[in-house]
Amino acid sequence: MGMLDERVAVITGAAQGIGLEIARRFLAEGARVVLGDVNGEAAEKSAAELAAAGDGGAAIGARCDVTSEDEVGALVQRAVAEFGSLDVMVNNAGITRDATMRKMTLEDFRAVLDVHLVGSWLGTRAAGGVMREQKRGSIINISSISGKVGMLGQTNYSSAKAGMVGLTKAAAKELAYLGVRVNAIQPGLIRTAMTEALREDIWAAKLAEIPMARAAEPAEVAGVALFLASELSSYMTGTVLEVTGGRYM
Ligand code: NAI
Repeated sequence: MGMLDERVAVITGAAQGIGLEIARRFLAEGARVVLGDVNGEAAEKSAAELAAAGDGGAAIGARCDVTSEDEVGALVQRAVAEFGSLDVMVNNAGITRDATMRKMTLEDFRAVLDVHLVGSWLGTRAAGGVMREQKRGSIINISSISGKVGMLGQTNYSSAKAGMVGLTKAAAKELAYLGVRVNAIQPGLIRTAMTEALREDIWAAKLAEIPMARAAEPAEVAGVALFLASELSSYMTGTVLEVTGGRYM
């Protein structure tokens, strides 16, 4: 018995990193999973690897740029067409364009808002549309602790990630009576390609702020996503769960 038997999940930005680990964990718990990513080839490759490694679980990969209303709609419809429902939506796709405001361009600001905030809104709206008919569903928005505290050089990213908290709570209120829950996760320092790019001194400074004195593996975010996706969190909506090793508690 898996915690997500009979469930269908869509995860955006799932070709690698946190999204891929969420897909892996959901699959291990019996879900059928659609991995969307702007890098469609990478999504298909990751899905094929997951399906081959798992015991019969179904995973498919598809190109989806979360800033495109049509592509997000098509990704959700693909899940329904292939697997018959949509029970879990994880809005995870993300980019960074860090710079202080002296150097950040309007284009950098808009690009980050577009992927995280507009992308999550499109995903929440498309998934909510299917889930409200089913009277069941869990939507999970991957925010960031940067949205809680604001980070230097991240006026774009912190704005977007804070905006995702507002989106989560407003959508939770709209969908609660229909049996659809909407929650957010705010990860701290997680070992992925996104953080690999950090300068060594910046990495060390971040580590020094973490009570647990280490970064997390993507699987440690995936476990919390599983909790929010599953019936274990059946009475939780509009919440923001911090996965930070105690940083900025
Ligand atoms: P990553 O860079 O390893 O993976 C991000 C994925 O999103 C990539 O596969 C990329 O192709 C995809 N993507 C980018 N733009 C896209 C678009 N327009 N449409 C669809 N897919 C797109 O990053 P990571 O670390 O796995 O991040 C996943 C999420 O977790 C992001 O939302 C990020 O902001 C968030 N996060 C990450 C933290 C970390 O320490 N790594 C900390 C807090 C939040």
